[in-house]
Amino acid sequence: MEAKIIKVDIQRPLFYNVVREGKFTPGGKLSMGLSKYDLDTPALLLNQEALERNIAKMAAWSQEMDCAVRPHFKVHRTVRIARQQLAAGAVGITCAKLAEAEVLAEHGVENVLLANEVAGERKISRLVSLAERINFVVFVDHLEVTRQIARTARRRGVTVEVLVEVDVGMHRCGVPPGPEAVQLARLVAQEEGLRFRGLAAYEGHLVALEPGPEKTRQIKEALQPLGELRAQLEAEGLPVEMVCAAGTGSFMITGTLPYVDEVHPGTYALMDLLYAKAGAPFEFAMTVLATVISKRPGRLITDAGLKALHPVFGWPQVGGQDNLTVRFLSAEHGVLNAQGQTEVQVGDKLEFIPYYADGTINLFERWYVIRGEEVVDVWPMEARGCSK
Ligand SMILES: Cc1ncc(COP(=O)(O)O)c(C=O)c1O
Repeated sequence: MEAKIIKVDIQRPLFYNVVREGKFTPGGKLSMGLSKYDLDTPALLLNQEALERNIAKMAAWSQEMDCAVRPHFKVHRTVRIARQQLAAGAVGITCAKLAEAEVLAEHGVENVLLANEVAGERKISRLVSLAERINFVVFVDHLEVTRQIARTARRRGVTVEVLVEVDVGMHRCGVPPGPEAVQLARLVAQEEGLRFRGLAAYEGHLVALEPGPEKTRQIKEALQPLGELRAQLEAEGLPVEMVCAAGTGSFMITGTLPYVDEVHPGTYALMDLLYAKAGAPFEFAMTVLATVISKRPGRLITDAGLKALHPVFGWPQVGGQDNLTVRFLSAEHGVLNAQGQTEVQVGDKLEFIPYYADGTINLFERWYVIRGEEVVDVWPMEARGCSK
């Protein structure tokens, strides 16, 4: 990633002032050539060209491997990005939350998969409403919840499409790939108001492993029971239309398995350090722009702390500045170790590459879209905060 320090005149009017004064319409064309370094900070930057290349690369992989991709929306929560993914050939969009799916439906996205379980009458009612409006598929892993979904669907004259989620070792949601999974699949197939579509899994405990033969071996071993379950159900006369799994850190392995039809990567479009270390072959398309607000011997302090950079799994890196590393983040401060002499001064701007894109994006209200150094657009995150 190319990043450099820019000496900014801190007296210059900042971009947010321009927005506030109404000279800019989000989603419209910018009337002036603004540099990303004119933006007030902390700001979330989206490198449009890198985003387009990442989306194109995944689409090319999908075509070449004949494996469908249904990108995960939970990471970017941005309808424009979802639309670009669909235009590139994605078969639909995957969500983690009903509220995300509702936002997509409101924006005319018609193929949505909720890769998660829900519980409770209120959620089930919303779920059935979605199935009324769009092509909608949901995970289940519980007999009674499955019956409740079926009852609500029958009452409303709707058919809900269902995938049985199988736990392949992450030990989050999902039924073990044995008799319990067979029993649940049979129930779904029998219940009026439901349609059994197939099986889903997420090998999330293995996605962050460094690439290599050992990672490949572990993923294949973890998913093998899923393949066996598919074969068993089909042998019993229960057609399994689709089996899906995987994310950014595993699709390249999981997507080649003969019994997997579809993968659900999310982070690949934006990328982060977590998945770069896991060998995902994509570019960093998002950064967090910060301003240096203090300088002491051996350290610099920026205005991007825990409220701008999600700290789970690891510290962010400072793009293009090998001698600067994160010492710690507090709520509103990012404290950097500065090894040796650094030219960076108070008022200068730096870009952080986040360790965890998914958590970081949701800390911001909008994307500043850049091409080169120019800010070309501002995009809303329509489903920001939609965790219900
Ligand atoms: C069910 C499910 N599918 C797929 C993914 C993949 O998303 P990503 O590629 O961002 O890791 C996740 C991530 O947590 C997930 O929970």
